[in-house]
This record gives sequence, structure tokens and C-alpha cells, in this order.
Amino acid sequence: MKNIVVFASGFGSNFQAIIDAVKQGKLHANIAGLICDKPGAYAIERARINLIPVVLFERNAFSSKAEMDHAILNQCQDWNADWLVLAGYMRLLSPMLIKAFPRHIVNIHPSLLPKYRGLDAVGQALNHKERVYGLTIHYVEEGMDTGEIIVQVPFEADELDRDHIEKRLHALEHQTYPAIINKLIVEECV
Ligand code: GAR
Repeated sequence: MKNIVVFASGFGSNFQAIIDAVKQGKLHANIAGLICDKPGAYAIERARINLIPVVLFERNAFSSKAEMDHAILNQCQDWNADWLVLAGYMRLLSPMLIKAFPRHIVNIHPSLLPKYRGLDAVGQALNHKERVYGLTIHYVEEGMDTGEIIVQVPFEADELDRDHIEKRLHALEHQTYPAIINKLIVEECV
């Protein structure tokens, strides 16, 4: 069974979808642990409820970003991580960490990349009065929300309303991300 380590900074609804998919036997992986960079993030609570090991890495506890990512790398290696899964982790990974897991780090982003990278992708798209929204799952490379695209799922918004669009996006994310992670893991094992 492959070990995945999930990275999250906030609410963790995608983390929950991954937990649920593992429990339902739809995602054939072991969640070895959660890496979180924000104390108080609800993702931490989800890990505790589900008896998943969690380690908090706060940026101000380290003298540099590289030092923090070294500590994260050590933790991932202690957990025998095969895949790193970014699920709302709002921080760029150091090149050193990316190089340690070639083509084994994935991210989900709530826009049709390369459009609307970074923070508040839905807000950026709304400002441009886009009608078509969607998500992108991609391999992580250096740079913000860059890297080879694995899948994109577009949809047309019925109304240009943030709540409406975010609800549809999240539902789509929760359905798509665990399925794609499973596909990548299964393909690697054949
Ligand atoms: C998700 O919508 C994810 O696509 C986005 O953060 C949200 C996390 O929600 N990721 C990014 O914007 C990455 N640049 P969650 O904490 O409820 O899973």
C-alpha cells in the first residue's frame, strides 16, 4: 500500500474527501500523516478525529523557509511517503523538497490554469466576469500553481455568484481529487 502525506493550511474539506475515499475503499492508499502550517486550522482537527498523525510546522519557528522544508522532508521520509498531496496548502514548496519527490507531488487549484494562479482564484475569475469555472490537478514544480497538468474539469456557472460557484467547485474537487490520486497510484503499480 502506498503512503500519502497530505499538506493542508485551512478547512481541510479536500483532506476529508481523501479520508472518506480511503475509508470507502475508493482510494487504495494509506494516509501516513498530515502536514499543516497553520495552528488552529480545522484540517488538524480532522486528522485527530480520524487518528491520522499530524505535525504542525510554523514558519516563525524556523530561521528560513529552506530549514522548514528540510524538517518537512525529514518528517515525510520518517512516514515513508510515496506521494505528497497538497490540499489547500497555501505555501510554495522549496526546490529541495520538490526534487526529493520527482513527479510524486500533486496539487489541486480552483481555476482552469494557467488562468488565475495564487490566492482567491474564484474572486479573480469573477472580477473578469468569466462564465466558465473549474479545477486543475497538476504535478508540482517550482513556481506558484505551475507544473504539468494532469486533469482539468470545467463547468459553466448558472449565476456569477461566489457562493454558488464555490459550492459547485468544492463538490467537484471532493469527487475528482481522490479519484485522480487513486488513478496515479494504481497506474504506478501496474
Ligand atoms: C481548495 O478549493 C483548493 O482548490 C484551494 O484551496 C481550497 C482548500 O479548501 N487551493 C489553492 O487555492 C491552491 N493554490 P479545503 O481546505 O476545504 O480543502
